Amino acid sequence: MPNLEGKVAIVTGAGRGIGREHALALARAGASVVVNDLGASLAGEGTDTAPANEVVAEIEAHGGAAVADGENVADFDGAERMVRRAIDTYGRLDILVNNAGITRDRMLVNMSEDEWDAVIAVHLKGHFAPTRHAAAYWRECSKDGEDVRARVINTSSPSGVFGNVGQANYGAAKAGIAAFTIIAAQELARYGVTVNCLAPNARTRMTEAAFGEIPKPEDGFDLMDPANLSPIVVALCADEAQAITGQCFFVYGGAVNLLRPWDAGELFARDERWDANDFLSQLLARFPDGSAPEGMVAGMGKAGGRSLQVS
Ligand SMILES: NC(=O)c1ccc[n+]([C@@H]2O[C@H](COP(=O)([O-])OP(=O)(O)OC[C@H]3O[C@@H](n4cnc5c(N)ncnc54)[C@H](O)[C@@H]3O)[C@@H](O)[C@H]2O)c1
Repeated sequence: MPNLEGKVAIVTGAGRGIGREHALALARAGASVVVNDLGASLAGEGTDTAPANEVVAEIEAHGGAAVADGENVADFDGAERMVRRAIDTYGRLDILVNNAGITRDRMLVNMSEDEWDAVIAVHLKGHFAPTRHAAAYWRECSKDGEDVRARVINTSSPSGVFGNVGQANYGAAKAGIAAFTIIAAQELARYGVTVNCLAPNARTRMTEAAFGEIPKPEDGFDLMDPANLSPIVVALCADEAQAITGQCFFVYGGAVNLLRPWDAGELFARDERWDANDFLSQLLARFPDGSAPEGMVAGMGKAGGRSLQVS
């Protein structure tokens, strides 16, 4: 595994699920870890210091270095305090894994303003705020002549890239995170920072709330083990991965797709403004059966299926 000895990482929402695995894996690779977790319910309510403290204890029990942090990632000043905690405790910051998340699923016609606002805040602002403060720190390091090789790993979702029914708030935030990744990658390259994102699939309280219990296989490879995501994070954190940026990795078990973002797609071209009637005729001629999203399950099937055939 890449050696991350001497590096300092923040993992948000690291008290449970996927974030916990990232924190353990980064510590195993040698990084000191700030284990951030608000200790919120799946809907984002309440606080509890226990999950973050338990992960810190687990890392320390294996000889690693970690410190707990209970800031809310959607609080701009709280995110700055979290970044400061890494620098004050360990003297530097190299890696930011934005992972904290909540869900409040509801069909669009019934969704409340609170359900929309809370989910957008934790995911979208909860990615922006830590990245903003970490990036300001890295810009200073770069201006001071340091050879910065910093990493931001964001967390999108199949729901955001393929579109899942019942998750207009969550999917919109996750699609936003994929776009944020592409823009941040371009802006921060000049300071030596790469920015990538994952679209994970794993058995956690989040997926069990959405899809019911997901049984573990009795033997063989567990495709839904949340630990399957962490090697991708550790690999992207290696110094050698300095030129890999702005990418979104869909991960399902051992299948990893480097997703293509919105691309140019079907072209309707003429050298003058389209007449609405002409455009409509063209649309109907080229898409006699219509054109509509296939949805998340179909998208996931295609992605994982392709990769599995290759391997
Ligand atoms: N499990 C999956 O298959 C899956 C799929 C797609 C995306 N994701 C994303 O992966 C990430 C991790 O999800 P998970 O499945 O491990 O869920 P989880 O509920 O097990 O863990 C999320 C953690 O984030 C913490 N958290 C919530 N709000 C916070 C806040 N404002 N500040 C700090 N911490 C906060 C929670 O306390 C919790 O410990 C999320 O961004 C989620 O949307 C998961």
